[in-house]
Amino acid sequence: MDKEKIIALLNQDLEDEHGAIIQYLNHAYGMGEGEMACEIEAIARDEMRHLDWLAETIVALGGTPSLKRGTMRLGGKLVTDWMKNDVQLEEGAIAQYKEHISLIDDTKIKRLLGRILSDEEAHHDDFAHFVDKAEREGVKDIRGSRQDKTAQMLNWGVEHEYTVILQYLLHSYLAPNEEAKEQLQDQAVNEMQHLGWLAEELVGSGGRPEIEHTEVDQSTKPRDMLQADIKIEKEVAQAYDKAAQETDDPGLKKLLRRIRDNELYHVEVFTDLLQDIEGGK
Ligand SMILES: [Fe+2]
Ligand SMILES: [Fe+2]
Ligand SMILES: [Fe+2]
Repeated sequence: MDKEKIIALLNQDLEDEHGAIIQYLNHAYGMGEGEMACEIEAIARDEMRHLDWLAETIVALGGTPSLKRGTMRLGGKLVTDWMKNDVQLEEGAIAQYKEHISLIDDTKIKRLLGRILSDEEAHHDDFAHFVDKAEREGVKDIRGSRQDKTAQMLNWGVEHEYTVILQYLLHSYLAPNEEAKEQLQDQAVNEMQHLGWLAEELVGSGGRPEIEHTEVDQSTKPRDMLQADIKIEKEVAQAYDKAAQETDDPGLKKLLRRIRDNELYHVEVFTDLLQDIEGGK
């Protein structure tokens, strides 16, 4: 099988990992804090690792990781229905990885897909167990319909964080050196934390996170990538600062300032990386 075909198959897998992450985060945030939500978030983190391995493999083959999001099953009123949807999503993943393992002849890639497949089989069983557990424990959708200015601001934050997670991951895969790769990955992980904090704050105060993203900067030259990253961080640090000033809720103010300070740190990290590149290091 030629490289182009392998890249296309791996990108299909990557898109589906992306869809799984967002589906599971929707479910974990929607049911509020608790043991099951934590376990589902841990499964979403497994999918993030899969996405990462697939992206690195695609880049090593000379391809570009896709930013499209694959299949999601977000229907269902009851948490038991959500868990059934998750079982089905894993069934789809299992079938697809088995098919791709049989199609691809590269030993290392086969081994990687086999490694991922074993996780998906474990997830499948976990979700099957959660169908019963949700029923037994009466786990509910605790999201409300709050749509005021605060809820809108929090959803703006969720949208921003999701966008930069994708952007920094993509930039890390295309990074010119190890230092840049590692820093971009680290900041992407920090943005994932922000996404979680904002989504939980929103659900806790009667809202509903809309996990959608806006346009991701798709520059491929290191200088352009870092300039775009610095620009968005500066803008967003200002926006969080303004939102923190505008709220009377002390807990929310503290959260927004903490995120703002993280974003200011990101500006400095990215500025250092840009200087290294421009200095020819
Ligand atoms: Fe996965
Ligand atoms: Fe999975
Ligand atoms: Fe952030």
